[in-house]
Amino acid sequence: MTPTAAPSKGLEGIVAASSSICWIDGDAGVLSYRGIDIHDLAQHSSFEECTYLLWFGHLPSASELSGFTAKLAAAREINPKIVEMLRSFPREATPMEVLRTAVSALSMYDADEKNNSHDANVRKSYRLTAQIAMIVAMFDRIRKGKSVVEADKSLSHAGNFLWQLNGEKPSATAERALDVALILHADHELNASTFAARVIAATLSDVHSAVTGAIGALKGPLHGGANEAVMRLLFEIDKAGEDPVEHVKKMLAEKKKISGFGHRVYHTEDPRATHLRKMSEDLGKSAGNPKWFDMSRQIELYIKQAKQLNANVDFYSASTYTTLGIDVDLFTPIFAVSRISGWAAHIIEQHDDNRLIRPRADYIGPEYPQKYVALPNR
Ligand SMILES: CC(C)(COP(=O)(O)OP(=O)(O)OC[C@H]1O[C@@H](n2cnc3c(N)ncnc32)[C@H](O)[C@@H]1OP(=O)(O)O)[C@@H](O)C(=O)NCCC(=O)NCCS
Repeated sequence: MTPTAAPSKGLEGIVAASSSICWIDGDAGVLSYRGIDIHDLAQHSSFEECTYLLWFGHLPSASELSGFTAKLAAAREINPKIVEMLRSFPREATPMEVLRTAVSALSMYDADEKNNSHDANVRKSYRLTAQIAMIVAMFDRIRKGKSVVEADKSLSHAGNFLWQLNGEKPSATAERALDVALILHADHELNASTFAARVIAATLSDVHSAVTGAIGALKGPLHGGANEAVMRLLFEIDKAGEDPVEHVKKMLAEKKKISGFGHRVYHTEDPRATHLRKMSEDLGKSAGNPKWFDMSRQIELYIKQAKQLNANVDFYSASTYTTLGIDVDLFTPIFAVSRISGWAAHIIEQHDDNRLIRPRADYIGPEYPQKYVALPNR
């Protein structure tokens, strides 16, 4: 078939798949998982419950939720060869590079590696969800010369991550703050990393390959990497003792983008930013260090007024994670700790009703036919 559609740079506004997982209204600022509003989920749910919802399509009953939670906790196992591999990586490697490589390697130790059935995909999703969190926490300790902390299967996903990261049981406030952040980041329709995962899955490649590709996409500063860039900017302004507004004014005058602002889909407030702003403020106050929130707020108000751009999910996650004592280069890996939930849901959905994803390009090269000129005559 000859392609007819006019090209849209960056596929803006193009509907590329049917999906029953996530619905966004970018004009009204609505995000929902399986039709349930993100504000309700952030207030009342947990990462485990949201992941069940994303994977199985409905809110779990009490026994379904406890069964799911137990299965996810039981999946906190990792082959010692992977831990050995983490130890062999350069300590200065970025945690996203390490995560991408380790997830790719995990398939070689997964009993379901060659099985793309629905049930095997679900089994691999449990394992990857548990293992991604473990890898991020373990590598952080290894690179700091600390001992690896064994998983605690009695803790929640958020609680166990903080336990394996810090080697001490998290406060209820820290655990809930991370749990809410994980809920907010769990899925977002056909964002770049999820689309990448679906394209890979649609070739009938396996879950690990699709997730590895998704991690590569998430790493970029226009996607998940933006949260790290926000915090680096705040640190830079603080170190120089500059006025935050003057600093970003200068950046805009130099035609630079300010990370954490703008969105392809939302034309109003990103509903996730509403919660992260509040969380950043509350955590800053209770830690007696409102500095990062205050700087962020000044920048947000200025960018809104000067450029009519809204803060996105990455803007306040930066100050939130810093106030929780998390290193900057772990911010994007933590995004992956959550987003694996959505990636898995989309990969399962893709395999359940697959067709190869293979669009066409709008060819803008030399007109056909061009003459082939033999090498000696060029
Ligand atoms: C998210 C993002 C990639 C969306 O990109 P997009 O839909 O392709 O939009 P564009 O990059 O084409 O931006 C449209 C206009 O808004 C401006 N703009 C968008 N985001 C901006 C930002 N963060 N800072 C300054 N200007 C921005 C662009 O310069 C462009 O202006 P122009 O038309 O005068 O050239 C983009 O807003 C961005 O780069 N944001 C910063 C990175 C970030 O926070 N990413 C995480 C997203 S959740």
